[in-house]
Amino acid sequence: MVVANRLPVAWDGEDWTISPGGLVRALRPVLQNAEGAWVGWAGIPDFAPEPFDHDGISQKPVPLSEDEVDSFYFGFCNATLWPLYHDAIVAPEFDRQHWGSYVDVNQKYADAAAEVAAVGDIVWVQDYQLQLVPSMLRSVVPDATVGFYLHIPFPPIEVFARLPWRRQIVEGLLGSDVIAFQTRQSADNFSRAARRLAGAEAVGKRDLRWRGRLVHLQPAPIAIDTAEFERLASSVGVQQRAAEIRSELGDPDHVILGMDRLDYTKGIDLRLEAFESLLYSSPRERHQFAFVQVAVPSREQVPAYQQLRIDIEQIVGRINGTYGEPGWVPVSYLYRTLPLEEVIAYYVAADVMLVTPLRDGMNLVAKEYVASRTAGDGVLVLSEFAGAAEQLRAALIVNPYDVDAVVETLSYATTMPVDEQQQRMRKLRNMVRKADVFDWARDCLATLEDR
Ligand code: G6P
Repeated sequence: MVVANRLPVAWDGEDWTISPGGLVRALRPVLQNAEGAWVGWAGIPDFAPEPFDHDGISQKPVPLSEDEVDSFYFGFCNATLWPLYHDAIVAPEFDRQHWGSYVDVNQKYADAAAEVAAVGDIVWVQDYQLQLVPSMLRSVVPDATVGFYLHIPFPPIEVFARLPWRRQIVEGLLGSDVIAFQTRQSADNFSRAARRLAGAEAVGKRDLRWRGRLVHLQPAPIAIDTAEFERLASSVGVQQRAAEIRSELGDPDHVILGMDRLDYTKGIDLRLEAFESLLYSSPRERHQFAFVQVAVPSREQVPAYQQLRIDIEQIVGRINGTYGEPGWVPVSYLYRTLPLEEVIAYYVAADVMLVTPLRDGMNLVAKEYVASRTAGDGVLVLSEFAGAAEQLRAALIVNPYDVDAVVETLSYATTMPVDEQQQRMRKLRNMVRKADVFDWARDCLATLEDR
């Protein structure tokens, strides 16, 4: 059984449709085989559909009221935990009422899961929205095997310790048999927090003893459906669309791409400023560049996201106003959700991919770009603060805060000889082929089955 904030299906007003995304793709066959269930929110406030089957998986909706969406989802999840776990790039809000709602809503998910869980079941809880569920669930279904996967970073204790409810969160997670993280760094950070804040005891390198039970900490970097990206990227439709995109951009020598959810963790503003610097310092080559930034709308009710959108649109306006000319727009900015084929066409069209988050659990865009480069060329510029940097070492690794270094790297990326591009891309492509999202799910579940 999977317990996640969202169900793997979305209601479009008439029907349920499968949500796109790697996690759903990877877990679908596993759950279908196991006659499994998925517990989660349908994504619409005050919507309480009865449990139903979709695609061979039994779906158990957890309804959230408008108030709960405000205080649990927008409040505690996305104005407290999200910024705190991403190095407090934006100041986290500490609001007692939001915390109360986090506890209540976690209890709702745990109760819903307990209703369907049977003896011997494996329950796999996902992400920062549900960190109290493992302990809550264990207290009602002590025999279940409980796994937890954190998709975002677990911060260093110096940052985490600010949270007034830090002990409760750590104890919530310690109800798991296995807690898996994107990186070794996150697993180590959690281990330290559990020992200092909840009195857990280290057993070997990767286990903790807590209240007489063993809890295993597992670094398990998430991945993508590599074969599917390769298949789509090499399809005639996507190849044609990629050529069309280049020509729509005026056939520049260098297409540079950024592709992110509009989120302050992604470093979109600093990246644009680096591009602006490049334009400033290369008056003669300027026209050879075209920068495309796709920003996918996200959490639009949180004030920090609204402000970020204003800031980014101002920078884009400034760059285009200063440097643009009739027939040449330096930055093409798309604030929308694109269909997957269109996303991949942009990957295929881009000579340089800029993935420069200030902090990111993994960053799958980096892996998607690599998988889509079936011709074996292209340059990936990757932030050292993305989990993906632990694996994609053949990328050009940068500190995204160091704007001068990003400018230099960008200028290197646009002049990199094809030989070097191919050499690096070969290593990167081997990496994303060696470990896809199906391997990830298999590894995580195998660890749980062994408990
Ligand atoms: C990140 C989180 C996910 C979350 C996703 C989209 O990847 O780790 O748990 O679902 O962002 O955010 P949203 O708030 O729209 O679910």
